[in-house]
Amino acid sequence: MSSILQRLITPLFSGPAEPPRNKVTVVGVGQVGMACAVSILLRDLADELALVDVMEDKLKGEMMDLQHGSLFLKTSKIVADKDYKVTANSRIVVVTAGVRQQEGESRLNLVQRNVNVFKHIIPQIIKHSPNCIIIVVSNPVDVLTYVTWKLSGLPKHRVIGSGTNLDSARFRYLMSDRLGIHSSSFNGWILGEHGDTSVPVWSGTNVAGVNLQTLNPKIGMDSDTEKWKDTHKMVVDSAYEVIRLKGYTNWAIGLSVADLAESLIKNMNRIHPVSTMVKGMYGITDEVYLSLPCVLNNGGVSSVVNMTLNSAEVAQLQASANTLWGIQKDLKDI
Ligand SMILES: NC(=O)c1ccc[n+]([C@@H]2O[C@H](COP(=O)([O-])OP(=O)(O)OC[C@H]3O[C@@H](n4cnc5c(N)ncnc54)[C@H](O)[C@@H]3O)[C@@H](O)[C@H]2O)c1
Repeated sequence: MSSILQRLITPLFSGPAEPPRNKVTVVGVGQVGMACAVSILLRDLADELALVDVMEDKLKGEMMDLQHGSLFLKTSKIVADKDYKVTANSRIVVVTAGVRQQEGESRLNLVQRNVNVFKHIIPQIIKHSPNCIIIVVSNPVDVLTYVTWKLSGLPKHRVIGSGTNLDSARFRYLMSDRLGIHSSSFNGWILGEHGDTSVPVWSGTNVAGVNLQTLNPKIGMDSDTEKWKDTHKMVVDSAYEVIRLKGYTNWAIGLSVADLAESLIKNMNRIHPVSTMVKGMYGITDEVYLSLPCVLNNGGVSSVVNMTLNSAEVAQLQASANTLWGIQKDLKDI
């Protein structure tokens, strides 16, 4: 007696399954990793999603919970394992694993603990997906992107840090909220280091092409009576504030990572402020990853936009580079 399956379905082809074309792996299924995973799923970017973590029960629980939502998703395969075999043939790998920033802890304090975690993770990713693009999210993101580049052996354009993509999103939200318009209608960029020394490019802020610095030449300065500079301070402080209030940040970073993944997977040539290797740009002489406006397509970072920065902004960018190199030069075994 044949089974229901045999009676219901007649196979036309029984060879090995085609490999996935748009597989995304998320390493680390904590608050940030799961926000990235859900955001990527809801935007229909992946034909397969793989999750990896060292906490096996949590990993299996998250996988099952997502699989149970399959009816409402268009990513037909969701897999998870602590063995990196499960990540094979990934096109994009998002790395969110690591130790979380504690209340009041600077991102840079996290560095050595997370470098040690990455020494285990990155070679495994490359072993199973040698042609992937890696998006690093774990903090301190700029340093860990540099560490990932070194550990992976990938060309620099295939290793991207989420960088100031989130800072810029926060900036655009806060500025546009003050102006009573939607975030997407305020154009402004935060570059440099993700975090405390990030650089707001006041000279380029505009709404519908109207440059805000021409309306208020003191915008962003201490002497500005409108105190627009406070908005950038709020951007810097906001991660600490959210962590104080809810223990971690996850939704905005998850949404912003999905936006990057979309530009990569769909070969869009959209420009995002993400962390890239900036040696040789703006007078920076060390191998540091910092955020600049990067063109993202299916090869990774295809090019970097040369911003017309004023001398104060260039000096701030160089100061960020010096801060990061001050940490990187002491890292061991990478
Ligand atoms: N770049 C950004 O804009 C941004 C924003 C928010 C958070 N973050 C960073 O993202 C990271 C994750 O934050 P979170 O809130 O999800 O932390 P979390 O503690 O909730 O999750 C971290 C996960 O990493 C896993 N992990 C630890 N070591 C691992 C290993 N060797 N292999 C695989 N998985 C491992 C843990 O088991 C845990 O599930 C932190 O470094 C945080 O600072 C970055």
